[in-house]
Amino acid sequence: MKRLQDKVAVITGGGSGIGAATAALFVQEGARVVVVGRNEEKLRKTMQAINHENVSYTVADVSQVEDTQRYLRETVERHGGLDIVVSNAGIQGEFGPISDISVEAFDSVMAINVRGTWLAIKYAFPELRKRGGGSIILTASAGGLNGMGISSPYVASKHAVVGLARAGAIDGAPHGIRVNAVCPGPVDNDMMTNVERTLGAGNEAQVRAWVAGRVPLKRFGSNEEVAKLNLFLASGDSSYCTGGTYTVDGGWSASLP
Ligand SMILES: NC(=O)c1ccc[n+]([C@@H]2O[C@H](COP(=O)([O-])OP(=O)(O)OC[C@H]3O[C@@H](n4cnc5c(N)ncnc54)[C@H](OP(=O)(O)O)[C@@H]3O)[C@@H](O)[C@H]2O)c1
Repeated sequence: MKRLQDKVAVITGGGSGIGAATAALFVQEGARVVVVGRNEEKLRKTMQAINHENVSYTVADVSQVEDTQRYLRETVERHGGLDIVVSNAGIQGEFGPISDISVEAFDSVMAINVRGTWLAIKYAFPELRKRGGGSIILTASAGGLNGMGISSPYVASKHAVVGLARAGAIDGAPHGIRVNAVCPGPVDNDMMTNVERTLGAGNEAQVRAWVAGRVPLKRFGSNEEVAKLNLFLASGDSSYCTGGTYTVDGGWSASLP
């Protein structure tokens, strides 16, 4: 028996990276999956890579109320209900000391990473309740558990995502809805490539080596390694897990002072 047989999942940020790998694994495990993002081309690529009738997409901006209601409504209309939400869309935002980061840059990170996550929980709850429960997985970050310099909007937003997993778990428990946060360390994908480019233009390899060197396992993680944790939290294997924060970071959080 596949671990997500006949379950319906919606995955935001499914056009790339962790979201795309999670969609592929969920489909492999029997789920019907809707991937969500702003860029239709990226969503199409995810669909082509998975190449299965059980994956479709909806273009939406997770920071917008109407878009959130629409991607959830379309998922339910396509598949008759909703069991699993992976609220994974996120941006890194500007780097710099707090005094140098613009208010607009702070607001845009909070709009996508925090408001987008809160909206996903808020509007998914009624649909999950109709099924007698479900699983909501929030992609936070190792930066949601520890302070990291020059990244205050991102760190604040991911701490808030951890808070939403805890608050959501308490609200959801009477209805059989579990809410958990996943906290990846550096993952080998577009987001980290952009970080390397931003922090070390011309010296990307050194930035990458420096970051990897701070990870006890001495390497970046892969999208697939995070997807496997998402699968555990989406499936019945994690039936007693709610309100938790799960690191998948090569020991990064354990090693920070
Ligand atoms: N990569 C890492 O090292 C790392 C580490 C810890 C945590 N994370 C977290 O993991 C999550 C997934 O990121 P990733 O690593 O897979 O990097 P990624 O490839 O950049 O994926 C982020 C996804 O979010 C989507 N997105 C951004 N803003 C959106 C919006 N307003 N509405 C809808 N979709 C939006 C993007 O698609 P569109 O451009 O199409 O909108 C993109 O597909 C993020 O929350 C990130 O913070 C990543």
